[in-house]
Amino acid sequence: MDKTKVRLAPSVMCCDFFRLGEQVKVFEQEGIELLHIDVMDGHFVPNLALGTDFIKQLKKKTSIPLDVHLMVERPERILSAFPFGDGDMVSVHLESTPDVRPALAEIARRGAKPFLALNPATPVEKCKDYLALIGGLLIMGVNPGFAGQKLIPGTIEKIAGARKLLDENGRPDAEIEADGNVSPENAVLMRRAGVNIFVGGTSAVFRGSDLSQNIRQFKKTVFE
Ligand code: DX5
Ligand code: ZN
Repeated sequence: MDKTKVRLAPSVMCCDFFRLGEQVKVFEQEGIELLHIDVMDGHFVPNLALGTDFIKQLKKKTSIPLDVHLMVERPERILSAFPFGDGDMVSVHLESTPDVRPALAEIARRGAKPFLALNPATPVEKCKDYLALIGGLLIMGVNPGFAGQKLIPGTIEKIAGARKLLDENGRPDAEIEADGNVSPENAVLMRRAGVNIFVGGTSAVFRGSDLSQNIRQFKKTVFE
């Protein structure tokens, strides 16, 4: 697979949990190549979401690779409890621990692609020391914790800055993922600024009842 292939990653926390199997089937039928899993600990963000047992069960039900977004304090302490491996992606927040290096190293050692996630208030320059250790950057367009928020102004410029930073520091191969209010309209601008992985939450995939139609519409508007 092309390393910086354009992909839409539906956000599983936005699924209807009483129809989860059915909705995952739709993702498979629509050729979805990544499932975004929000893990929240109630400390790093003021909310709780999706945990290790849920992910273990999901992994048994689908072979779509997982994109685990860890919104937890000191992720290096709990990584071993997560069932990720070859072909998966795992993001840790730069703000979540005094040193992200051990977490990034463990993710890579287990065959997954380490991503460094940045809150809206964290400048991209802060990633400079870690560029050799990552597969990509996850740029939050909203403060993490809740779906359904509005894009924070300056996000598109920040993404362009992230692309420039990666390109100028020998990492044109590194990916950029956008998370938070990734509506088709915002995603067109994000794509131009350098994003290749789009997290599809309530702004893209989970609007109305026809997920297939939303996925097709998103791809048509943003990918082509
Ligand atoms: C926010 C989560 C997102 C969320 C995005 O903290 O990380 O994955 O589901 O969805 P929308 O499109 O509702 O912003
Ligand atoms: Zn997320």
